Amino acid sequence: MPEPHAEHPNLTVLDHPVIQDRLSRLRNIETPSEEFRRLLDQISGLMTFRISRDLAVDPVAVQTPLELTEATQLRLPITLVPILRAGIGMIDGILALIPEARVGHLGVYRDEETMQPVPYFEKMPADVGNGPVLVVDPMLATGGSAIFAIDRLKAHGCSDLRLICLVCAPEGVAAMREAHPEVSIYTAALDRCLNEQSYILPGLGDAGDRIFGTQ
Ligand code: PRP
Ligand code: URA
Repeated sequence: MPEPHAEHPNLTVLDHPVIQDRLSRLRNIETPSEEFRRLLDQISGLMTFRISRDLAVDPVAVQTPLELTEATQLRLPITLVPILRAGIGMIDGILALIPEARVGHLGVYRDEETMQPVPYFEKMPADVGNGPVLVVDPMLATGGSAIFAIDRLKAHGCSDLRLICLVCAPEGVAAMREAHPEVSIYTAALDRCLNEQSYILPGLGDAGDRIFGTQ
């Protein structure tokens, strides 16, 4: 399992060379939506593979063509919660790795004036608090959207929560540590800072617009 960041104990940066290669291509302004989606799929699966080392397993008896043997299987349920819209872009890559996972949806957008999260949709499995929950969103900027998402999931009884973000700003990591210190954040990059519009620098721009071609 990769080590937490020295200055941010709630953050782990996944500095694997293949992850970093995919991220560089995602950052590139020349990367069109079609390729952006494909790269986001790949990097989301790779990131999840790196952080899934401690997922619980159950023993299972398996009949092979030759004999009965003892094996292990992932303990289910495992729930993915994308923060809409951009979080949707990470789901297929994670489901390719864990197809048995279920998916709860949380619609939140950032008000462009106040930067406050504005909720507009929520649909969770009835027992979402049962088992680990991976909250996914490509961008952690001020942290407002992620903090709101974790608030909601705690209200549903979730206690095993992890946040997977492609790119983080130090401001958002600090805000998450203040609000939800026990929630581990996994990222491909801790970027420099936010600009005046609370966009991440250097970042990759507006993730939702780049995924869905709505720029
Ligand atoms: C983006 C991003 C996060 C949020 C991060 O979503 O996907 O959800 O901003 O910013 P924050 O940390 O300051 O809250 P956006 O509000 O642009 O909505 P979208 O996914 O529909 O494009
Ligand atoms: N949301 C994005 O999509 N990009 C940022 O840099 C910040 C918030």
